[in-house]
Amino acid sequence: MRQRNIKNLQEKLEQNSGFLVREPETVKGRWAELFGNDNPIYLELGCGKGKFISRMAQDNPDRNYIAIEGQSNVALRALEKAQEGRLANLRIFIDYVHDLQDYFTEGELDGIYLNFSDPWPKARHAKRRLTHRNRLENYRKVLSDEGTVEFKTDNDGLFDFTMEELEEGGFEILQQTRDLHKSGFSAAEITTEYEERFKDAGKNINFVKFR
Ligand SMILES: C[S@@+](CC[C@H](N)C(=O)[O-])C[C@H]1O[C@@H](n2cnc3c(N)ncnc32)[C@H](O)[C@@H]1O
Repeated sequence: MRQRNIKNLQEKLEQNSGFLVREPETVKGRWAELFGNDNPIYLELGCGKGKFISRMAQDNPDRNYIAIEGQSNVALRALEKAQEGRLANLRIFIDYVHDLQDYFTEGELDGIYLNFSDPWPKARHAKRRLTHRNRLENYRKVLSDEGTVEFKTDNDGLFDFTMEELEEGGFEILQQTRDLHKSGFSAAEITTEYEERFKDAGKNINFVKFR
């Protein structure tokens, strides 16, 4: 997600830091303590400007949410939304994540959302895709036994790749569609920034839920 540099970014991050986790590695195994309850914890990896995760947090006060975004100028928008909405069940941290085990213990998460992840179309970059088999194995390690992953993408090639990786890894497919907004699945109800853009342009959205 590209965005022009925001003037005084550090200052703005400070002003909107109420829901920012500065040293997420130190919270590993203690996220429930940070939220102050034992509610299930859901993660969005690559949350962009936070439209999806802030709405999820607002609609589901009995669940906790963590959003991760690698770009500070984009994450700032998510932090602003959390602060404006006083979303006590949402925390955000800024980092490009490679290994979720740096931040979460085994079974600490109940769900992971991957929304419109960067496609990395060149074959030599396949390992960077968030649905590469190495990543999928990594998600398995931090998810609870019943924990699920939900993946949405406009990119048909990335979806084909993902389905192959899921088959290779022996994952159980719970829901699958090439056209989410005609499927009747509840995952169509809360959309992301990218999703709105592609939907408005008439592009089909691919979706799979698995564990
Ligand atoms: C194409 S955008 C989609 C944003 C949002 N999920 C949406 O659907 O509107 C992908 C976002 O994921 C972030 N991202 C990609 N890889 C990441 C990683 N490993 N860790 C954290 N953020 C990542 C990028 O910085 C970018 O903002």
